[in-house]
Order: sequence, then structure tokens, then C-alpha cells
Amino acid sequence: MILVTGGAGFIGSNFVLQWHASTTEPVLNLDALTYAGNMENLRSLADSSRHVFVHGDITDATLLERLFAEHRPRAVVHFAAESHVDRSIHGPEAFVHTNVNGTFRLLEAARAYWNDLAAEEQQAFRFLHVSTDEVYGTLGPADPAFTETTPYAPNSPYSASKAASDHLVRAYHHTYGLPTLTTNCSNNYGPYHFPEKLIPLMIVNALAGKPLPVYGDGQQIRDWLYVKDHCSAIRRVLEAGRTGETYNVGGWNEKANIDIVHTVCALLDELAPAPARHVQHSVTGKPLQRYAELITHVADRPGHDRRYAIDARKIERELGWKPAETFETGIRKTVRWYLANQDWVANVQNGSYRDWIQRQYEEPRE
Ligand code: NAD
Ligand code: DAU
Repeated sequence: MILVTGGAGFIGSNFVLQWHASTTEPVLNLDALTYAGNMENLRSLADSSRHVFVHGDITDATLLERLFAEHRPRAVVHFAAESHVDRSIHGPEAFVHTNVNGTFRLLEAARAYWNDLAAEEQQAFRFLHVSTDEVYGTLGPADPAFTETTPYAPNSPYSASKAASDHLVRAYHHTYGLPTLTTNCSNNYGPYHFPEKLIPLMIVNALAGKPLPVYGDGQQIRDWLYVKDHCSAIRRVLEAGRTGETYNVGGWNEKANIDIVHTVCALLDELAPAPARHVQHSVTGKPLQRYAELITHVADRPGHDRRYAIDARKIERELGWKPAETFETGIRKTVRWYLANQDWVANVQNGSYRDWIQRQYEEPRE
């Protein structure tokens, strides 16, 4: 079996569902179920003997030792992390705890287990670390896209903690020979995306007639990849990646935030027109004609990275991976998914979600 960490979160749950649908190999899913972890994402696996869920923390060394000994995974796919940049600005400590200490504990447990394996099993073992393009910092408008050799220059507590974890993974390969793989991916979007992040927040706010908060001038650029394409890239790297290597994963879809927001609004105008749903502007009380009327420019994110772009030629050249979705096909699927899964959205908008939204968007900045 494989051990997946963070498999109840956005990308982890998409990965586990895809894995379950396309292989017969069981998954041991270790997740602490923070605000971002949601068992609803995995409901379709509730009766499956090929999905074993463990509610636990990756910083718990005793638990990790026991899980490795009992389940003897042939690979680890490590998603578990604190993942939201804005939260890392308000409270960086949790990011160091999970992303740095947690990855360290997981590496230590994996190393101890791997050391005792027979030579053949040692060779076949893989530790795949899921990381981000944010470790490379920010690009100017004319800079070439990030490659695997771009120097690290993380700018937020989140990206700094992910960079630290990447360095630990690299060191465990270099020093101990642990067969590691690292993927650095761009912005994902798709089903089960927690509505604190740009795309799901815009969909959810628009349908509720709430302002669509665009940070600063909205001209910041991200590269967007449909989440299922990210999952297929991880599977491919796990299967055929060269150990000790890193692979950049991206969608060749650079878009300015303001354009993303307009695209989401236009799709909602088409698929769920505001007049037909009697949506009112939550601030003015006026009936809404088009969702773009809700766009509101707000204070910028401190230290906001201006542009990310991924050069994904290495994974394409070496492993033959390419995204299956364009942004146009992926974003349409995503908007449709949110329209069809309003119960999922309502369930995650609990007290702690409302506290976060109030803190981030309604209280004056310190
Ligand atoms: P997420 O926040 O949606 O999910 C994180 C999951 O990890 C949750 O299920 C949470 O309960 C679990 N978790 C958190 N702390 C834990 C701990 N201490 N022990 C065990 N489980 C814990 O995150 P995501 O967007 O799915 O991202 C997954 C991974 O992919 C992260 O490592 C992130 O850095 C990376 N990544 C994300 C993106 C993106 O666009 N979302 C892009 C590139 C890389
Ligand atoms: O690049 C990969 C990274 O993408 C991942 O490592 C992170 O885990 C993931 O959260 C994401 O980080 P971003 O900060 O790019 O994603 P987010 O959805 O928070 O923001 C996307 C852009 O939209 C960013 O420029 C900030 C902006 N934004 C975001 C929010 C939540 C807004 O303008 N308004 C908002 O309300």
C-alpha cells in the first residue's frame, strides 16, 4: 500500500479518489483533520477496504513509527501542510509546526523504516514530497518561468516553511540516500477546493451576493492547473521519476487575478444568472444583474508575490506528462461542481470559517 498524508484536504482527497478509481493498491490516509481536512470529500470511499483512514498528526513520531511498522507502505505521498498564504501572515507558527517539523518527523520515520528494509524493497521505496512553485519567489513581467534550477527565494511564511521542508527532503536524499522525489506545482483549482482560496471564494461569494475581494490592482499573475492534472502528474512522478530529482508541474496558464474573477463571473452569469436566482448585492441591497458588479478592490496582501510562472518542460520531456485540461475546460467543470455541490459548501462554512472570513476581510488590518 501507499501512505498518503493530508488526504482529506483539497489536493490530497482528489489524489486519493483518483488513485482509488484507477488502481487496486490500498491507501493509508493519515490526516489531522484541521479546518482544511474534510471527510465529506472521501464519503464515496466509506465502504472501501482499500482506503484506511487514520485521524492523526504528522508531528506524532510514535504514531508514525507504528503506522510504518503495521502497514509497511511501499511509498509515501506527502501532502499534509498548512497551505494558505493569508493565514501564514496572521499566524506563521502553525506553518513551521506542520510544514517544517511535520515533514522532518515524517522523514525520520520513513528513514528508520526504510533502513530496515531488504535491499530490493529499499530500492523500490519512494518518498514523494508535494511542494509548491511559491518557493521560487516572484517574477518580473519579462522574466523566464521557474525551472527546477531557479534559486529559492520564498517571500511568505508559508512559502518559507515549504522551502524549508523541500531542503530537508533534499538533504535526506543526499545524506542518507532516502529515495525521495519532489514536485513543485503551481496554483490548483477544482472540486473540494476550500473557499478561502481565490477561485472557490469568488464562486461562493458571488452566489451569496457578497463582495468579491480583489487584492490591490488584481494584476498579480498565477499559473493555474486543474487539480486532477496535478494528481496525474504526481502519479507519473511516483511511477517513473528519478530519485533525488525535483519536477516542476504547471498548466501553461498564466492569468491575472482580475481576469480569473471576470471569467468566474461570466460563467456564473451563464450557468446561474443572478436575476433568475434573485441575488441581491449584500451591501446595497439592490438586485444583481451581473456577478461582476460585486468586484471590490481591497487592501493588498502584505509581501504579495507579483507573478508565478512554471516551466514544465522537464516533466513533459522525461516522463511524458502533460495536463489534460485547458483553463477554459477546467474552470467550467469547477464552476459546475460548485453549483452542483452547494451542500458541501454550506457544510464547510462553519463557525471557524466565518471567523476567518471576518478576520481577513472585515476587520481593519493591523
Ligand atoms: P489543504 O490545506 O486543502 O489540505 C491540507 C490537508 O493536510 C488537510 O486535510 C489537513 O487536515 C491536513 N493537515 C494539516 N496539518 C496536518 C498535520 N499536522 N498532520 C496531518 N495532517 C495535516 O492543502 P492543499 O491545497 O490540498 O495542498 C496540499 C499540498 O499541496 C500542500 O503541501 C501544499 O503546500 C501543496 N500545494 C498546494 C497547491 C495549491 O494550489 N493548493 C499548489 C502546489 C502545492
Ligand atoms: O502557487 C501555488 C500556491 O497556490 C500553493 O502553494 C498554495 O497552497 C495555494 O494556496 C496557492 O497560493 P496563492 O496565494 O497563489 O493562492 P490564493 O488562492 O490564496 O490566491 C491567488 C491569488 O489571488 C493571489 O495573488 C492572491 C489573490 N487573492 C486571493 C484571495 C483569497 C485575492 O485577490 N483575493 C482573495 O480574497
